[in-house]
Amino acid sequence: MELSFSLLLILCISFVGQVCARPATFLQDFRVTWSDSHIRQIQGGSAIQLVLDQSSGCGFASKNQYLFGRVSMKIKLIPGDSAGTVTAFYMNSDIDNVWDELDFEFLGNRSGQPYTVQTNLYAHGKGDREQRVNLWFDPSAAFHTYSILWNHHHVVFSIDDVPIQVYQNNEVRGIPYPKSQPMGVYSTLWEADDWATRGGLEKIDWSKAPFYAYYTAFDIEGCSVPGPAACASNPSNWWEAPAYQELDALQARRYKWVRMNHLIYDYCSDKSRYPVPPPECYAGI
Ligand SMILES: *[C@@H]1O[C@H](CO)[C@@H](O)[C@H](O)[C@H]1NC(C)=O
Repeated sequence: MELSFSLLLILCISFVGQVCARPATFLQDFRVTWSDSHIRQIQGGSAIQLVLDQSSGCGFASKNQYLFGRVSMKIKLIPGDSAGTVTAFYMNSDIDNVWDELDFEFLGNRSGQPYTVQTNLYAHGKGDREQRVNLWFDPSAAFHTYSILWNHHHVVFSIDDVPIQVYQNNEVRGIPYPKSQPMGVYSTLWEADDWATRGGLEKIDWSKAPFYAYYTAFDIEGCSVPGPAACASNPSNWWEAPAYQELDALQARRYKWVRMNHLIYDYCSDKSRYPVPPPECYAGI
């Protein structure tokens, strides 16, 4: 299934400075941003172990920023009693007041209770678009693929090719959409037991520390910034192709299945927060 390394190398050379798919090691694309001692490279740098203990959590970030594309990683979350821990994987443009941000947050739970995945999207500094799903598998038993597709048409958060949140570009209706700020890719593992699990009722059990999460298969395909400015508006980027402009029939079915069976919170239907749902909620999926 995978292209051979030499073929990838040829592809990379012919796309130098543009878009380049290749098997990534952690250090090719990322750097540690918080607590070096809590991030360990394993398997020759193709995977990492994140550590959370009472002294610190940790975090890493991409060296470059990206404007449109798809970012995916395989993650294996903290097993057993992970209540009070949060593992995050997100993109952020880091511009004060008007930043754009695309979030995956994995909220730990007591042993045997389901992990919750919260997604959220900030456009021009405004977020408050949380959705939560309880996972339909044990995310600590094996690696699963978490990805963010971001093009001119929509943002799609997916788990193993199952879309869990979709945000359409409805700029024509005056609804903000992230489209001009390049974003970096970030991840952190930290303690947030004041809110994460059952709204903060379940506290972290430090007797179970250290807590470990694992990441591998780092894959960023997008228009790199710095890089050629014309890239982001090039319609021949694969992530802009018709097949990625809307969910296909299978993805739409899976998305509906998640919403019917695993969605536990959707800001669009939170009447106490939004007596009138925000405009994008009427715009369809
Ligand atoms: C944890 O488990 C409880 C009980 O099953 C569930 O209500 C909750 O949504 C789960 N997730 C979090 C983050 O609290």
